[in-house]
Amino acid sequence: MIGIDALGYAFPRHYLPLSALARARGAAPEKFERGLGCVRMAVPHPAEDTVTLAAAAAREALATGKVSPADIGLLIVGTETAVDHAKPVASYVQGLLNLPADCRVFEIKHACYGGTAGILTACEWIASGANRGRKALVIAADIARYPLGSPGEPTQGAGAAALVIAADPRIAEVDFLHTGRHSRDVHDFWRPLSESDARVDGAFSLACYMEGVRESYARYLATGGEAEAACDALLFHMPFARMAEKAHAELLAAARGPLEAESISQDFERRVAPGTAIARAVGNTYSASLWCGLAGLLHAGDLPRDTRVGCYSYGSGFCAEFFTLRMLTPEIMLPSVDALAVRQEIDVATYEAWRGLRMQNDGWDLPSDLPFAFVGRVDEVRRYRAAEPLSS
Ligand code: CAA
Repeated sequence: MIGIDALGYAFPRHYLPLSALARARGAAPEKFERGLGCVRMAVPHPAEDTVTLAAAAAREALATGKVSPADIGLLIVGTETAVDHAKPVASYVQGLLNLPADCRVFEIKHACYGGTAGILTACEWIASGANRGRKALVIAADIARYPLGSPGEPTQGAGAAALVIAADPRIAEVDFLHTGRHSRDVHDFWRPLSESDARVDGAFSLACYMEGVRESYARYLATGGEAEAACDALLFHMPFARMAEKAHAELLAAARGPLEAESISQDFERRVAPGTAIARAVGNTYSASLWCGLAGLLHAGDLPRDTRVGCYSYGSGFCAEFFTLRMLTPEIMLPSVDALAVRQEIDVATYEAWRGLRMQNDGWDLPSDLPFAFVGRVDEVRRYRAAEPLSS
């Protein structure tokens, strides 16, 4: 059996209420809060970036799972908001966490699908035997960013999920042998190399996402996967929390044909809503979004052993995949998720100022309580301040 042996997360410590953003942009707060399902937007301090979020999530996974860094033989970071065109975020994380030199280390990109690609690749690495008894650490980390005032702005967010993938896992089995994939070369959402903000064809991106739901589920069934009705919970990639509602309705229509609105809604509340809490509180975490859904589900209540969870991953460009997890234990500590309740609220002026500072070398007051902080660039070399490194 192969799957998730330890889990960790990291989120910015500040948030902007979407009601405040709506007022500043002249939009109806109900559009953001109900229409998109976005209530709070996680806003990274300029000293937080993809590297610091990835390192903090990985540190939580290793610490709460009591996994020795020396056991990690594969380190993959899935991200679409890397900090360098050549040096991978994974190398920074290796240094900050003191991970062993005898480790394959790389970054993987396929928009919001990159983390899932890394996790399924890690499962196959372990199944092949090439791991020789060692574990993989896969991190999905991103900071979502659209132009100010654009339709995508209220869906922004930031966060990281870290998963230790191993044989005889403690948290969940990943059924990587029954997965359905659907991919196509399209321009639904993309970010040119010279730009910081994503470009998006909004309606087309939604259509591609839905096509992925139908086609990946059909291919999953063709591999011998059990029908969605056998799943106790369903997790979807959430570019905004309300997308889970639309994706669930699309999946049910593809699987069962037309249903009464009331029965779709009851099924949504039972199987999908518990996994949407973090997306509502944080916003889009791109590659980490599906895996933040898992944290939301775990936080919502005990998941008895053998709970089956259907997962839909989507990365623009695009690649979609449907597969399942089987939960093995409900007892998981996630301090980072508890900490979401005690974040600090900021106003629109601070959010906009931090967004500007992010593009500069430095010029911000360094928070003392961050486990890892970006302290600025010297000769275009990024410098970080690390908390105590983990011992091997
Ligand atoms: N009260 C309540 N609801 C309201 C409202 C009000 N006053 N005003 C509008 N609404 C509702 C609308 O009816 C709509 O709901 P329905 O979908 O049920 O009709 C909802 O709020 C959104 O309104 P619009 O469709 O008018 O929103 P928009 O066109 O301004 O923007 C968006 C929507 C295109 C998704 C935009 O947020 C966007 O560009 N987002 C980024 C792209 C994206 O997330 N794409 C998703 C698929 S791609 C992907 O998944 C990868 C990824 O992570 C980016």
